[in-house]
Amino acid sequence: MADRVLVTGATGYIGSHTIVELVNAGYEVVGVDDFSNSSRDVLDGIAGIIGRKIPFVEADCSDMAQFSKVFESYPDIRAAIHFAAYKAVGESVGKPVEYFKNNLSSLLNLVDLMRRQPSANIVFSSSCTVYGEPDEGALPISETARTKEATSPYGRSKQICEDMLKDCGRAYENLKITALRYFNPIGAHPSAKIGELPRGVPQNLVPFVTQTAAGLRKELSIFGNDYDTPDGTCIRDYIYVCDLAKAHVAAVNRMLTQDSERYEIFNLGTGNGVSVLELVNTFIKVTGVALPYRFAPRRAGDIVKVWADATKANTVLGWKADTPLDEVLLSAWNWEKKIRNL
Ligand code: NAD
Ligand code: WQD
Repeated sequence: MADRVLVTGATGYIGSHTIVELVNAGYEVVGVDDFSNSSRDVLDGIAGIIGRKIPFVEADCSDMAQFSKVFESYPDIRAAIHFAAYKAVGESVGKPVEYFKNNLSSLLNLVDLMRRQPSANIVFSSSCTVYGEPDEGALPISETARTKEATSPYGRSKQICEDMLKDCGRAYENLKITALRYFNPIGAHPSAKIGELPRGVPQNLVPFVTQTAAGLRKELSIFGNDYDTPDGTCIRDYIYVCDLAKAHVAAVNRMLTQDSERYEIFNLGTGNGVSVLELVNTFIKVTGVALPYRFAPRRAGDIVKVWADATKANTVLGWKADTPLDEVLLSAWNWEKKIRNL
């Protein structure tokens, strides 16, 4: 019997891609989502790729009564990947209670349920946001860099969750935890059956780019071109969502089959910094689509430059994000075209 992995936030952007890779790697899964930021249709998208429906339970992880039923129906869960959380940085500033309530209590419920399992392995979705603006000379940034005061309730929720997990890992001997700090996930599955579905006006760069190219937005504003970077625009580490998904499979493999530490942290990035302007020019080059853009004032709170030292994930997990940016941006565009019937 294949090991069963619980995936919370299963119909979300990263969760859906990860389920595909888990199934490809031979795992059995059970997905959980409350559709607070996704739709039921995603289940059809996943089924269209893997050729069958996945076991799925609609439940709110912050509600113990609902969440515990999943474990009653699937007592054979051996590992859990916890994506379920609210993730909009700007929104979190005005809604700290909602963000802390959901992001903290969902994780606490998961730990509480998992610690009663004979095999209690948890992969947690963390973020490079915990690093804030890296110190001079700290780039590429490694897992040993100190974390900085969070600039939003969202960012703080990730820091608190990491700290909670550390304490829980010390307390419960059967518990193993892997915190994965994602850099900037972008792109969509090559089949264009699943991808990113932001609600309302996208706050992130790539969905705004693809929606502008599709004619839904008049033009892209590039926030700031006077930063201390080679072309004046901010630099990030954009990682293909399918590469990111595979890192979760590697993390689960490691926890289930290797004598790993009880609490481990990995940066998940490509190791390469790409500027906003470079990304925009690459998009125009590979798609051949006109992308109207203008330079606009800096966006408050933006980090100037950050990219990952992913050496630990490369060596310990045996994983590398190696899909070229051209291909990744093309996948994002194909997904946008598919959902807009272009
Ligand atoms: P997403 O919003 O697409 O997916 C999250 C899913 O969780 C959604 O389907 C939502 O409906 C579900 N959900 C939220 N609260 C829930 C609850 N209480 N019970 C059940 N389901 C619930 O987000 P994503 O981009 O796939 O992100 C997944 C995780 O990765 C999040 O924890 C996010 O903070 C983290 N992360 C994302 C990024 C990014 O840029 N996308 C970067 C770093 C970290
Ligand atoms: C990337 C670059 C913008 C939109 C956010 C979260 C972070 C993490 C990843 C979850 C920046 C520029 C953007 C636009 C632009 N998420 N930009 N015009 O800011 O690195 O991080 O997502 O953990 O916590 O804060 O990503 O995609 O918003 O921006 O010029 O319309 O694109 O200024 O330089 P960011 P992003």
